[in-house]
Amino acid sequence: MVEGEGERGHYRYGSRERSGVVLSIIVPTYNESENIPHLLRSIRDGLEAKLQRIDSSAEVIIVDDGSPDGTAEVAERHSNMAERLRIRVLRRHSRRDLLSAVLDGLNTAEGSNIVVMDADLSHPPSLIPTMLDELMHDRCDLVIASRYVDGGSVAEWSIRRKALSISANMLARTILNLKVKDAVSGFFACRRWVLEGVNFTTSGYKILLELLVKADNIRVKEIPYTFVNRSHGKSKFSARVAIDYMRAVWMLYRYGRKRRVERRGSVLFLSRAARFYTVGASGLAVNYGVASIANLLLSNMHIATLAGILCSITSNFILNKLWTFEDTDLAILHVLRQYAYYVGLSSVGGVLQFTLTHLLSSIYGMQYNIALILAIGVASMWNFLSNKKWTFREKVWG
Ligand code: GDD
Ligand code: MN
Repeated sequence: MVEGEGERGHYRYGSRERSGVVLSIIVPTYNESENIPHLLRSIRDGLEAKLQRIDSSAEVIIVDDGSPDGTAEVAERHSNMAERLRIRVLRRHSRRDLLSAVLDGLNTAEGSNIVVMDADLSHPPSLIPTMLDELMHDRCDLVIASRYVDGGSVAEWSIRRKALSISANMLARTILNLKVKDAVSGFFACRRWVLEGVNFTTSGYKILLELLVKADNIRVKEIPYTFVNRSHGKSKFSARVAIDYMRAVWMLYRYGRKRRVERRGSVLFLSRAARFYTVGASGLAVNYGVASIANLLLSNMHIATLAGILCSITSNFILNKLWTFEDTDLAILHVLRQYAYYVGLSSVGGVLQFTLTHLLSSIYGMQYNIALILAIGVASMWNFLSNKKWTFREKVWG
């Protein structure tokens, strides 16, 4: 089961997974009435024995966009075709894009695994049991039926369509830095949570592409197949699809870049914090060292203590400026202003620690040592964040 609900734009998913349903095959259709009977029969023939063996059932979800050729009616006529294979038809009233068809199918799917495929028999249904095996034996989370691994191919495509597909694939793989060979396959199988975990924002044909970019920590496997041209009906591939595709690649590229920057932001924050507290620890040593030496030389305890404090604040400031926050602006007025800020804010930290310790131990009756630890924690957090923001003029986060 998936925890909670996923949200994707206007789609909201409550998982309808049902035990005993091992697989949902989602097939978007538009004017595929001639292909549907053949498709459903081959799915059944390929899957029946396996379902019997594992004592489970599966479903095919036809997501039809009001095809005028009666695709939905043809599919409904086959709904009692097999005992373990349920055929469901999801009718949408007007033509919308392919991605939203798949997501609407997913929304009503009950299987713990999902297959996405075309209706026109370009994607051989005989491959489905193999794909399911890969998932059930936990060899991966996503299986891509691939034209571009050894053993895979495309039959009977025109040179033009071949070139288009190969360059579309290459473009995506380089720009988006993908490892898989066929990133634009329309035929794949995955665990249900893989699809449910992605917030899809592109439209059109590029479901797999967006999945590969956004779910980047899943285990992916490619198995070869031969894409055969449809023998009935017309391809819906068009210039519009190609333009949508370019836009999707561009959007996903920007998405990846933004995420890399954000990631760097958190790394930056943590490395700044680590340096800041290392400097703080070095300050303790400076404080102690200077005070004891000064006491030896001057034999005046109070002046020695003061010297220790002043030296450690100053050395902390210098190290934090040059090392922690990598600020190399040495203009004298600028440095003096920063120093004043640093001393001021750190003093506020000292007062904060003092007050908090008093408050927690005397007024709320907390044990002194625990109160002290809490107060030191709060004060040093204050010191880091306030100096990051006001002394060194950085964003608090990042
Ligand atoms: N519901 C719905 N709505 N289904 C649609 C729509 C739509 O607007 N447009 C197309 N489909 C269905 C078709 O009926 C078919 O089942 C499937 O989506 C793929 O459409 P095709 O028109 O056959 O696509 P293609 O053969 O040109 O492209 C295929 O190969 C590409 C690889 O080069 C698809 O599998 C692509 O996803 C794939 O990238
Ligand atoms: Mn096709």
